[in-house]
Parts: sequence; structure tokens; C-alpha cells
Amino acid sequence: MLRSALLNVMVKAAHKASRRLKRDFGEVEHLQVSLKGPANFVTAADRLTEEILREELELARPGYGFLGEEGGAREGSDKTHRWIVDPVDGTLNFLHGIPHFAISIALEREGTIVAGIVYNPVNDELFTAERGKGAFLNDQRLRVAGRKRLADAVVACALPHPSRGDVELARSEHVAVQDKVAGMRRFGAAALDLAWVAAGRLDAYWERNLSPWDMAAGIALVREAGGFTTDLDGRDDMLKTGGILAGNADIHRELLQVLKQARRIAPPTARSAQA
Ligand code: IPD
Ligand code: CA
Ligand code: CA
Repeated sequence: MLRSALLNVMVKAAHKASRRLKRDFGEVEHLQVSLKGPANFVTAADRLTEEILREELELARPGYGFLGEEGGAREGSDKTHRWIVDPVDGTLNFLHGIPHFAISIALEREGTIVAGIVYNPVNDELFTAERGKGAFLNDQRLRVAGRKRLADAVVACALPHPSRGDVELARSEHVAVQDKVAGMRRFGAAALDLAWVAAGRLDAYWERNLSPWDMAAGIALVREAGGFTTDLDGRDDMLKTGGILAGNADIHRELLQVLKQARRIAPPTARSAQA
């Protein structure tokens, strides 16, 4: 498949970083049996992956800014471009030897996300999207699912840890949504949840309290696959509020209403935790 120069840069960086990451994942599977577990090892793998990605991207596009989960924000001499990178999205899966995690890279130009890739090195699924040029899984064009009724939809969500403070709100939302859909799923990697919405595997996905690197690339994928992404108030402020809802036009509209309603009837302590 013929890719643009920009996507080639992003894919090349992801492939390079993934070689090491895959080896580390093999190692983690062995470390499961040790008492101490692989936690420190995984932190090191996260950091190293981000470092490889940053170096590769900087080499190809010198001066672009960089926002990564591990290293935070670095300003570049070019103030109009910024990479937004999650070196390993789905760290808890990675840590437990669950082969569902991904490298996520997005490019922002003057505040707008113009390209995104999400790559699962274990099954070699590469999701790519560039503004106005469509979304792809490897070389196959993607389209969000066409289902129109919430009752037929499979929807991914989050199960926030109680320490995060938004757990009661999440529970109210789960109950409300579960009543209305065909099935709910929790996979544990936001970037892949969004990529799977783009691929039509999932009809919708929502979560709150995310960071820009969890969703920037996935937003590009869903939009280029003909889907909708908004925050949980229906606005275009996902990166600011940390909330996201993605799906096709019909499912997105219906689910937004269900989630808003769940928030209205949630206990007051829950409502104050919303993003
Ligand atoms: C996490 C995953 C997870 C989501 C969390 C994120 P990480 O990212 O995307 O699915 O529920 O909110 O923080 O920590 O694995 O990069
Ligand atoms: Ca993440
Ligand atoms: Ca991460």
C-alpha cells in the first residue's frame, strides 16, 4: 500500500520501537511466575519505547514538539507541529502478559489532529489515518459499523479503579448502558478501543479522565472511518476534558443521551467526579 511520507515516518518509528517491545513482552510472560512480578521491568520498557519513538520522529521531522506519557511535554522550534505519543497503551495488559496493547502516535498541526497510527505489535495490526485520506487497517480501508440501533450495539467502556474518584459515576453509566445494548466490553487499551470502533468491531466506546496520548491517534482513526468523536457533553473538547464518546452518527447520538441521563440521576457524590 502506498502511504504518504508522513505516515511512513510514523509507521517506521512504530515498527522500530516495536521490535524491542515485542522482545520485552516475551520476557514479561516469563516473569509472571516470579514473586516480585514484572512491574519495574515494564516501566523500563515503557520508557525505552518512548525514547526510541522520540528519537526516530525527531530524526525525520526535526523541531516538532513532543508530548509523551513518560517524558511529558517538550517544546520544539516548530511551534505548529506536535507529536502526541503513548509508547504502550494498555500497560496493565502488557504487565499481565495479555496481548492487547499498542503504540499510539498522533500528529497535531496548529492544534488539529491530522494523522494517527495505533499499532499492536503482537498481532501486527497497524491502524493508520490521515486527515482527508481515510483510515486503514494494514492496507484495508476502514469504515465504522453501520448498525443503527443501540439494542444491536457492542460497546466498550472503562472500569475505573476506585482510587480515581469517578467510580460511582461509572457504575451509574454502566447500569444505564447495559440495559440498552447487546453487549458491553472492557479491553483495557483506549487507543485500541478507538481503533476497533474505526474498524467496525465495536459500535461505540466511551471513557472519561483520559489523557491526550490515550486518544489522539484513535480520534483520527474514528473520524477518518466516518465516525463521530466528542467529549461526554457532545463537544469537541476531548483532549481538554479527558472524556470521549466514539461511534457512528446514530449510535453516538443515542448513547450520548443515555450517558447524560445516567449522569443526571447519579448520586451527587458521583456527579461531582465527572470529567
Ligand atoms: C490506560 C488504558 C486504559 C484506560 C486508562 C488509560 P495506559 O492507558 O488506555 O484502557 O482505561 O484510563 O490510562 O496507562 O495503559 O497507557
Ligand atoms: Ca494510555
Ligand atoms: Ca501508556
